[in-house]
Amino acid sequence: VNAEEAIEQLVADRSLKRIMVIGASDAGKTTFAELLLRRMEGESALVDLDLGQSHVGPPAMLGWGRWSQEYRSVDEIRPERLFFVGATSPLANPKAAIAGAAALVSDASDRAERVVIDTSGAVEGSYARHLKLEKIRVTRTDGVVALERGGELEHITNAILHGRLAPVLVLPVAKEAVPKPARERSAYRHRRFAGYFASACLMRLPLEGLEMMAFSKQDSLFEGGRLIRGLLIGLADRVGRHVGMGIIEGLDEEANELIVLTPVPRRGKIVAVLPGRMLLTPAGKEERLRRR
Ligand SMILES: Nc1ncnc2c1ncn2[C@@H]1O[C@H](COP(=O)(O)OP(=O)(O)O)[C@@H](O)[C@H]1O
Ligand SMILES: [Mg+2]
Repeated sequence: VNAEEAIEQLVADRSLKRIMVIGASDAGKTTFAELLLRRMEGESALVDLDLGQSHVGPPAMLGWGRWSQEYRSVDEIRPERLFFVGATSPLANPKAAIAGAAALVSDASDRAERVVIDTSGAVEGSYARHLKLEKIRVTRTDGVVALERGGELEHITNAILHGRLAPVLVLPVAKEAVPKPARERSAYRHRRFAGYFASACLMRLPLEGLEMMAFSKQDSLFEGGRLIRGLLIGLADRVGRHVGMGIIEGLDEEANELIVLTPVPRRGKIVAVLPGRMLLTPAGKEERLRRR
Protein backbone atom coordinates (compact mmCIF):
# COMPACT_ATOMS: atom_id res chain seq x y z
CA VAL A 1 0.00 0.00 0.00
CA ASN A 2 1.08 3.59 -0.54
CA ALA A 3 0.63 6.39 2.00
CA GLU A 4 -2.61 7.58 0.43
CA GLU A 5 -4.23 4.11 0.61
CA ALA A 6 -2.89 3.58 4.11
CA ILE A 7 -4.48 6.79 5.32
CA GLU A 8 -7.78 5.84 3.76
CA GLN A 9 -7.69 2.42 5.46
CA LEU A 10 -6.74 3.82 8.84
CA VAL A 11 -9.40 6.53 8.73
CA ALA A 12 -12.13 4.09 7.65
CA ASP A 13 -11.39 1.54 10.38
CA ARG A 14 -12.95 3.12 13.44
CA SER A 15 -11.85 0.25 15.67
CA LEU A 16 -8.40 1.84 15.41
CA LYS A 17 -8.93 4.51 18.01
CA ARG A 18 -5.30 5.01 19.00
CA ILE A 19 -2.87 5.02 16.08
CA MET A 20 0.87 5.32 16.73
CA VAL A 21 3.33 6.50 14.09
CA ILE A 22 6.90 5.25 14.49
CA GLY A 23 10.08 5.79 12.49
CA ALA A 24 13.60 7.18 12.66
CA SER A 25 14.31 10.93 12.70
CA ASP A 26 12.91 12.78 9.70
CA ALA A 27 11.07 9.69 8.44
CA GLY A 28 7.96 11.85 8.05
CA LYS A 29 6.15 10.80 11.24
CA THR A 30 4.73 14.23 12.01
CA THR A 31 3.83 14.85 8.36
CA PHE A 32 1.97 11.52 8.28
CA ALA A 33 0.25 12.20 11.61
CA GLU A 34 -0.97 15.53 10.26
CA LEU A 35 -2.29 13.98 7.02
CA LEU A 36 -4.15 11.44 9.13
CA LEU A 37 -5.71 14.12 11.33
CA ARG A 38 -6.79 16.09 8.27
CA ARG A 39 -8.77 13.12 7.02
CA MET A 40 -10.41 12.12 10.28
CA GLU A 41 -13.94 13.16 10.95
CA GLY A 42 -15.17 14.02 14.43
CA GLU A 43 -13.05 14.92 17.42
CA SER A 44 -9.45 13.96 16.92
CA ALA A 45 -6.33 14.64 18.95
CA LEU A 46 -2.57 14.47 18.61
CA VAL A 47 -0.39 13.09 21.40
CA ASP A 48 3.16 14.28 20.92
CA LEU A 49 5.61 11.81 22.45
CA ASP A 50 8.60 13.37 20.67
CA LEU A 51 10.55 15.25 23.34
CA GLY A 52 13.19 16.80 21.10
CA GLN A 53 11.50 17.67 17.80
CA SER A 54 8.23 18.33 19.56
CA HIS A 55 5.25 20.22 18.21
CA VAL A 56 2.71 20.20 21.06
CA GLY A 57 4.20 22.02 24.05
CA PRO A 58 7.89 22.75 24.63
CA PRO A 59 10.78 20.27 24.25
CA ALA A 60 11.42 18.08 27.32
CA MET A 61 7.64 17.85 27.87
CA LEU A 62 5.17 15.46 26.27
CA GLY A 63 1.83 16.96 25.32
CA TRP A 64 -1.52 16.39 23.72
CA GLY A 65 -4.05 18.67 22.11
CA ARG A 66 -7.15 18.67 19.94
CA TRP A 67 -6.88 18.94 16.20
CA SER A 68 -9.04 21.45 14.36
CA GLN A 69 -9.53 21.31 10.59
CA GLU A 70 -8.90 25.05 10.57
CA TYR A 71 -5.27 24.57 11.61
CA ARG A 72 -2.61 24.90 8.92
CA SER A 73 -0.28 22.58 10.80
CA VAL A 74 0.12 20.63 14.02
CA ASP A 75 2.18 23.54 15.34
CA GLU A 76 -1.10 25.37 15.92
CA ILE A 77 -2.37 22.72 18.32
CA ARG A 78 -2.84 24.13 21.83
CA PRO A 79 -1.75 21.72 24.54
CA GLU A 80 -4.59 20.42 26.71
CA ARG A 81 -2.18 18.74 29.03
CA LEU A 82 1.59 18.45 29.36
CA PHE A 83 3.86 15.94 31.05
CA PHE A 84 7.37 16.82 32.20
CA VAL A 85 10.17 14.40 31.33
CA GLY A 86 13.06 16.80 31.81
CA ALA A 87 15.21 15.52 28.96
CA THR A 88 15.09 15.82 25.17
CA SER A 89 15.27 12.06 24.61
CA PRO A 90 13.08 9.36 26.18
CA LEU A 91 16.23 7.26 26.66
CA ALA A 92 17.46 9.82 29.22
CA ASN A 93 14.40 9.33 31.45
CA PRO A 94 12.51 6.23 30.30
CA LYS A 95 10.33 5.91 33.41
CA ALA A 96 8.95 9.41 32.99
CA ALA A 97 8.54 8.96 29.23
CA ILE A 98 6.47 5.79 29.76
CA ALA A 99 4.39 7.20 32.60
CA GLY A 100 3.74 10.33 30.55
CA ALA A 101 2.75 8.39 27.45
CA ALA A 102 0.22 6.39 29.47
CA ALA A 103 -1.23 9.46 31.18
CA LEU A 104 -1.54 11.62 28.08
CA VAL A 105 -2.95 8.97 25.75
CA SER A 106 -5.49 7.97 28.38
CA ASP A 107 -6.53 11.60 28.83
CA ALA A 108 -6.74 12.21 25.07
CA SER A 109 -8.73 8.98 24.55
CA ASP A 110 -11.29 10.09 27.12
CA ARG A 111 -11.83 13.34 25.31
CA ALA A 112 -11.45 12.61 21.60
CA GLU A 113 -12.85 9.95 19.26
CA ARG A 114 -9.58 9.30 17.46
CA VAL A 115 -6.07 9.73 18.80
CA VAL A 116 -2.92 9.94 16.69
CA ILE A 117 0.33 9.35 18.58
CA ASP A 118 3.55 10.88 17.24
CA THR A 119 6.78 9.43 18.62
CA SER A 120 10.49 10.11 18.99
CA GLY A 121 12.99 9.01 16.36
CA ALA A 122 14.82 6.74 18.82
CA VAL A 123 14.52 3.36 17.06
CA GLU A 124 18.05 1.99 17.13
CA GLY A 125 19.11 -0.75 19.51
CA SER A 126 17.38 -2.94 22.07
CA TYR A 127 16.94 -0.17 24.63
CA ALA A 128 14.97 1.95 22.14
CA ARG A 129 12.99 -1.13 21.09
CA HIS A 130 11.97 -2.00 24.66
CA LEU A 131 10.91 1.57 25.22
CA LYS A 132 8.80 1.64 22.03
CA LEU A 133 7.12 -1.68 22.90
CA GLU A 134 6.39 -0.52 26.40
CA LYS A 135 4.83 2.67 25.04
CA ILE A 136 2.59 0.68 22.72
CA ARG A 137 1.51 -1.45 25.68
CA VAL A 138 0.82 1.29 28.20
CA THR A 139 -1.02 3.46 25.68
CA ARG A 140 -3.12 0.50 24.47
CA THR A 141 -2.30 1.46 20.89
CA ASP A 142 -4.71 -0.15 18.40
CA GLY A 143 -2.57 0.17 15.29
CA VAL A 144 1.00 1.11 14.40
CA VAL A 145 2.22 2.86 11.26
CA ALA A 146 5.93 2.21 10.66
CA LEU A 147 7.68 4.58 8.26
CA GLU A 148 10.75 2.70 7.18
CA ARG A 149 13.77 3.51 5.00
CA GLY A 150 15.62 0.21 4.83
CA GLY A 151 14.92 -2.41 7.47
CA GLU A 152 15.77 -0.19 10.44
CA LEU A 153 12.39 -0.82 12.10
CA GLU A 154 12.26 -4.57 11.51
CA HIS A 155 13.54 -5.43 14.98
CA ILE A 156 10.69 -3.37 16.44
CA THR A 157 7.87 -4.37 14.07
CA ASN A 158 8.80 -8.06 14.43
CA ALA A 159 8.60 -7.75 18.21
CA ILE A 160 5.23 -5.95 17.98
CA LEU A 161 3.80 -8.72 15.83
CA HIS A 162 5.43 -11.47 17.87
CA GLY A 163 3.92 -10.08 21.06
CA ARG A 164 0.59 -9.44 19.28
CA LEU A 165 0.62 -5.91 20.57
CA ALA A 166 -1.05 -4.27 17.55
CA PRO A 167 -1.41 -4.63 13.79
CA VAL A 168 1.42 -2.90 11.92
CA LEU A 169 1.30 -1.09 8.61
CA VAL A 170 4.77 -0.65 7.13
CA LEU A 171 5.20 2.21 4.65
CA PRO A 172 8.28 3.43 2.81
CA VAL A 173 9.60 6.83 3.83
CA ALA A 174 8.53 9.50 1.30
CA LYS A 175 11.35 10.51 -1.05
CA GLU A 176 10.73 14.15 -0.10
CA ALA A 177 11.68 13.34 3.49
CA VAL A 178 15.36 14.11 3.76
CA PRO A 179 17.31 13.68 7.00
CA LYS A 180 18.23 16.95 8.70
CA PRO A 181 21.72 17.37 10.16
CA ALA A 182 21.90 17.09 13.97
CA ARG A 183 22.83 20.77 14.08
CA GLU A 184 19.48 21.71 12.57
CA ARG A 185 17.63 19.56 15.05
CA SER A 186 19.41 21.15 17.98
CA ALA A 187 18.74 24.63 16.52
CA TYR A 188 15.01 23.76 16.43
CA ARG A 189 15.05 22.73 20.11
CA HIS A 190 17.03 25.84 20.97
CA ARG A 191 14.37 28.06 19.32
CA ARG A 192 11.49 26.20 20.94
CA PHE A 193 13.04 26.38 24.41
CA ALA A 194 13.83 30.08 23.94
CA GLY A 195 10.26 30.71 22.75
CA TYR A 196 8.89 28.95 25.80
CA PHE A 197 10.99 31.00 28.24
CA ALA A 198 10.60 34.29 26.35
CA SER A 199 7.84 35.47 28.70
CA ALA A 200 9.40 34.00 31.85
CA CYS A 201 9.46 35.83 35.20
CA LEU A 202 10.98 34.97 38.55
CA MET A 203 8.77 32.93 40.84
CA ARG A 204 9.48 32.25 44.52
CA LEU A 205 8.52 28.89 45.90
CA PRO A 206 8.64 28.36 49.68
CA LEU A 207 10.74 25.23 50.23
CA GLU A 208 8.72 24.43 53.33
CA GLY A 209 5.98 22.06 52.19
CA LEU A 210 7.18 22.04 48.59
CA GLU A 211 6.85 18.51 47.28
CA MET A 212 9.56 16.79 45.23
CA MET A 213 8.26 14.46 42.54
CA ALA A 214 11.28 12.42 41.49
CA PHE A 215 11.38 9.41 39.20
CA SER A 216 14.53 8.13 40.86
CA LYS A 217 16.55 8.82 44.00
CA GLN A 218 19.26 10.50 41.95
CA ASP A 219 16.83 13.17 40.77
CA SER A 220 17.31 16.11 43.09
CA LEU A 221 17.58 19.88 43.02
CA PHE A 222 20.86 19.54 44.87
CA GLU A 223 24.24 18.03 44.10
CA GLY A 224 26.70 17.55 46.92
CA GLY A 225 24.51 19.72 49.15
CA ARG A 226 24.50 22.59 46.66
CA LEU A 227 21.58 23.82 44.60
CA ILE A 228 21.99 23.10 40.88
CA ARG A 229 21.66 26.47 39.17
CA GLY A 230 20.34 26.19 35.63
CA LEU A 231 18.56 22.89 36.29
CA LEU A 232 15.42 22.42 34.21
CA ILE A 233 12.49 21.52 36.44
CA GLY A 234 8.84 20.67 36.03
CA LEU A 235 6.15 22.50 38.01
CA ALA A 236 3.06 20.72 39.23
CA ASP A 237 -0.17 22.01 40.74
CA ARG A 238 -2.02 20.55 43.70
CA VAL A 239 -3.67 17.81 41.66
CA GLY A 240 -0.32 16.74 40.26
CA ARG A 241 -0.71 18.24 36.81
CA HIS A 242 2.51 19.31 35.17
CA VAL A 243 1.58 22.86 34.30
CA GLY A 244 4.95 23.89 32.88
CA MET A 245 8.69 24.16 33.35
CA GLY A 246 11.14 26.39 35.12
CA ILE A 247 14.87 26.98 35.44
CA ILE A 248 16.47 27.04 38.88
CA GLU A 249 17.87 30.51 39.50
CA GLY A 250 18.85 30.37 43.13
CA LEU A 251 17.90 30.00 46.73
CA ASP A 252 16.88 32.69 49.19
CA GLU A 253 18.23 31.08 52.32
CA GLU A 254 16.80 33.67 54.67
CA ALA A 255 13.27 33.31 53.35
CA ASN A 256 13.85 29.60 52.60
CA GLU A 257 12.53 30.08 49.11
CA LEU A 258 13.52 28.58 45.81
CA ILE A 259 13.85 31.12 43.00
CA VAL A 260 12.71 29.83 39.65
CA LEU A 261 12.48 31.44 36.21
CA THR A 262 9.23 30.37 34.55
CA PRO A 263 6.52 31.51 32.15
CA VAL A 264 3.92 29.72 34.33
CA PRO A 265 1.51 32.35 35.72
CA ARG A 266 1.53 32.82 39.48
CA ARG A 267 -2.15 32.07 39.92
CA GLY A 268 -1.71 28.39 38.98
CA LYS A 269 -0.43 27.56 42.44
CA ILE A 270 2.66 25.35 42.32
CA VAL A 271 2.90 22.77 45.10
CA ALA A 272 5.43 20.33 43.63
CA VAL A 273 8.57 20.41 41.52
CA LEU A 274 10.11 17.69 39.36
CA PRO A 275 13.90 17.76 38.96
CA GLY A 276 14.90 17.45 35.31
CA ARG A 277 17.94 15.74 33.88
CA MET A 278 19.47 18.63 31.97
CA LEU A 279 20.62 22.20 32.37
CA LEU A 280 19.14 25.02 30.31
CA THR A 281 19.71 28.74 29.87
CA PRO A 282 16.67 31.02 29.43
CA ALA A 283 17.97 31.66 25.88
CA GLY A 284 17.44 27.97 25.15
CA LYS A 285 20.98 26.64 25.30
CA GLU A 286 21.13 23.06 26.55
CA GLU A 287 23.90 21.79 28.79
CA ARG A 288 24.73 18.35 30.09
CA LEU A 289 24.03 17.61 33.72
CA ARG A 290 26.70 15.48 35.33
CA ARG A 291 25.72 13.82 38.55
CA ARG A 292 28.45 12.62 40.92
N1 LIG B 1 5.13 12.79 2.44
C1 LIG B 1 5.92 13.87 2.46
N2 LIG B 1 5.87 14.76 1.46
C2 LIG B 1 6.65 15.85 1.45
N3 LIG B 1 7.54 16.14 2.41
C3 LIG B 1 7.65 15.30 3.44
C4 LIG B 1 6.85 14.10 3.52
N4 LIG B 1 7.19 13.46 4.65
C5 LIG B 1 8.14 14.20 5.24
N5 LIG B 1 8.42 15.31 4.53
C6 LIG B 1 9.41 16.37 4.88
O1 LIG B 1 10.53 15.76 5.50
C7 LIG B 1 10.94 16.45 6.66
C8 LIG B 1 10.83 15.54 7.89
O2 LIG B 1 9.47 15.20 8.09
P1 LIG B 1 8.82 15.11 9.53
O3 LIG B 1 7.38 14.77 9.33
O4 LIG B 1 9.12 16.32 10.33
O5 LIG B 1 9.64 13.86 10.12
P2 LIG B 1 9.67 13.26 11.60
O6 LIG B 1 8.47 13.75 12.32
O7 LIG B 1 9.66 11.78 11.39
O8 LIG B 1 10.96 13.71 12.20
C9 LIG B 1 10.05 17.67 6.77
O9 LIG B 1 10.74 18.75 6.19
C10 LIG B 1 8.84 17.30 5.95
O10 LIG B 1 8.24 18.43 5.37
MG1 LIG C 1 8.30 14.82 14.09
